[in-house]
Amino acid sequence: MEFNRKHLLGLEGFTKEEILYILETADSFKEVLSRPIPKVPTLRGKTVVNLFFEASTRTRISFELAEKRLSADTVNFNASSSSVLKGETLRDTIRNIEAMNIDMVVVRHGAAGAPYFLTQCIDSSIINAGDGQHEHPTQGLLDIMTLWDKFKNLEGLKVAIIGDITHSRVARSNIYGLQAMGAEVALCGPATLIPLKAEQWETKIFHNVDDAIAWADVLNILRIQLERQHVGLFPSIREYHNLFGITRKRLEKVKKDVTILHPGPINRGVEIESELADSEYSLILNQVTNGVAVRMAVLFLLSGGRATENFEE
Ligand code: CP
Repeated sequence: MEFNRKHLLGLEGFTKEEILYILETADSFKEVLSRPIPKVPTLRGKTVVNLFFEASTRTRISFELAEKRLSADTVNFNASSSSVLKGETLRDTIRNIEAMNIDMVVVRHGAAGAPYFLTQCIDSSIINAGDGQHEHPTQGLLDIMTLWDKFKNLEGLKVAIIGDITHSRVARSNIYGLQAMGAEVALCGPATLIPLKAEQWETKIFHNVDDAIAWADVLNILRIQLERQHVGLFPSIREYHNLFGITRKRLEKVKKDVTILHPGPINRGVEIESELADSEYSLILNQVTNGVAVRMAVLFLLSGGRATENFEE
């Protein structure tokens, strides 16, 4: 198939064929990552800038590892120690960085649309590593890859996304990507944390978590993003946990084998019981492992690589 994208801004509009192409490419990179020397010269000579305006552990480190495993030169930009503090604009920042001869930019920004804005400022490929409440496409892809590893075919798989949907870019990328793959998606949370536009996504909506658990094959559990909430959207963390927190007792009440995903960071004891996050139900660390291979695939394909290539050491 043809993969002609220059940027990865979101999974909205992606086809099943495109997502499968990325997953198959990522599978080849998983083999590379299992070698004694987990590195290929595929992006030798390319320079990737990691431009993070918001905090990150998993995404920043796995992009950097992916770039190093592909032999790219990597540069890390940290907004809090940059000339942004002196008032430099995003446009000036990125145009000055591109003037140093770079090829790709990985960007995380608090403003939805910032990665798209960068595509209007420079010629390099832009990869969205999370923009405000919009999308987090590589997280969506690694979540889908983790389910694809386990279930092979996602057609008809029932995935309930539970928690703070309103503020979640992970939820949006999961909805677009999972629906493209043929999965059924439901959203579950208090009415104040489900956006009004949810109806247009054609998902099921649950306000009772036990009903969502009974329906689902997979629970993708989200963190409550207090840093993005400017008014109280539920009475207290304790009440949220009592009504929507996922516990072993709740799962065993339905006596159902479900798969648990969580994009991290986890607020243990809030959206999920601490023990359950590390239990036999959980694929949370598999998601993190898959993140490196998925990001290698995205970097490789956006730089013009094709899945048919052999990855020699
Ligand atoms: N899932 C995720 O985006 O985690 P980080 O914020 O640590 O990158």
